[in-house]
Amino acid sequence: MKTPVRVAVTGAAGQIGYSLLFRIASGEMLGKDQPVVLQMLELPLEKAQAALKGVMMELEDCAFPLLAGMVGTDDPEVAFKDADIALLVGARPRGPGMERKDLLLENAKIFTAQGAALNKVAKRDVKVLVVGNPANTNAYIAMKSAPDLPAKNFTAMLRLDHNRALSQLAAKAGVAVGDIEKMVVWGNHSPTMYPDYRFATVNGESLKDKINDAEWNANVFIPTVGKRGAAIIEARGLSSAASAANAAIDHIRDWVLGTNGKWVTMGVPSDGSYGIPEGIIYGVPVTCENGEYTRVQGLEIDAFSRERMDKTLAELEEERAGVAHLLG
Ligand code: NAD
Ligand code: LMR
Repeated sequence: MKTPVRVAVTGAAGQIGYSLLFRIASGEMLGKDQPVVLQMLELPLEKAQAALKGVMMELEDCAFPLLAGMVGTDDPEVAFKDADIALLVGARPRGPGMERKDLLLENAKIFTAQGAALNKVAKRDVKVLVVGNPANTNAYIAMKSAPDLPAKNFTAMLRLDHNRALSQLAAKAGVAVGDIEKMVVWGNHSPTMYPDYRFATVNGESLKDKINDAEWNANVFIPTVGKRGAAIIEARGLSSAASAANAAIDHIRDWVLGTNGKWVTMGVPSDGSYGIPEGIIYGVPVTCENGEYTRVQGLEIDAFSRERMDKTLAELEEERAGVAHLLG
């Protein structure tokens, strides 16, 4: 039997938490032979703690053979103690008519406190995925609040955008979604993101050659992917939850277990490549192997792409400036 992996999940009694925890405990994230200990954090409110208790009772009732233990708490230092993986989901979601960055000041303080707690008690190689919005800047805040942990441990979730883009492309080209490779989503998890299928292939052939429709790209594909979160809110009255949890599982599974050379999109602290200033958490294509991600380097950036990549960067720089006062 393998040693259990400690997985911390914040906002555990929320909508995403409810779609996420049962899949982690059943082995869908880390493998069907990997026991896990779930360390779940919720607000110290009676209602939140009661809801968390209910979720833990349901986890118990599933009798998951891989669930080696559970902790439910309102203290980040308990939830993150010796954590190997931390899924930072807990934050306020937006409602109709809001942009994700409207949540920034309200949610930012969560990530200064949680970054500091991770810094203090988590494993030094903890893999952190920030889901709570605005995800890129919250990941930046957590990273800056954890100066003793390597910056590369902090990532933001662009995988939902990546998956959304794959489905839109598959429908347009009439191909199987699983046959598409080399999709990229650059930048911020916001409407400025740039889903880019210039390099995408389907069974090894260029997808761009199959679609070859610049008007559709600029006026349908890019805005559809970029505004999909708002479309879900409009339709459901609530923000995406099952698809968000699914993307979080994809992100961590690929980071831990590897992508076999396939590209996936992760929001990671920039190393300065592609003209993105160092440290900004920006969606880029990566491959993963042996628990590490590596940026896909050397892709050609044409004028259309440069303009979009700069626009989403400018938004991230603006968000960073807006939280600078919280970071000392
Ligand atoms: P929700 O309101 O259903 O659940 C959030 C939970 O977090 C609540 O139970 C709340 O009590 C808890 N919480 C709030 N602050 C906390 C804190 N400081 N510590 C611990 N728990 C805390 O919301 P949801 O639908 O689960 O969404 C959670 C976040 O994820 C939102 O910010 C949402 O916008 C974001 N989101 C991101 C993506 C993405 O692709 N990056 C996708 C979907 C949703
Ligand atoms: C999404 O993309 O579905 C989430 O970020 C939720 C939102 O606010 O759009």
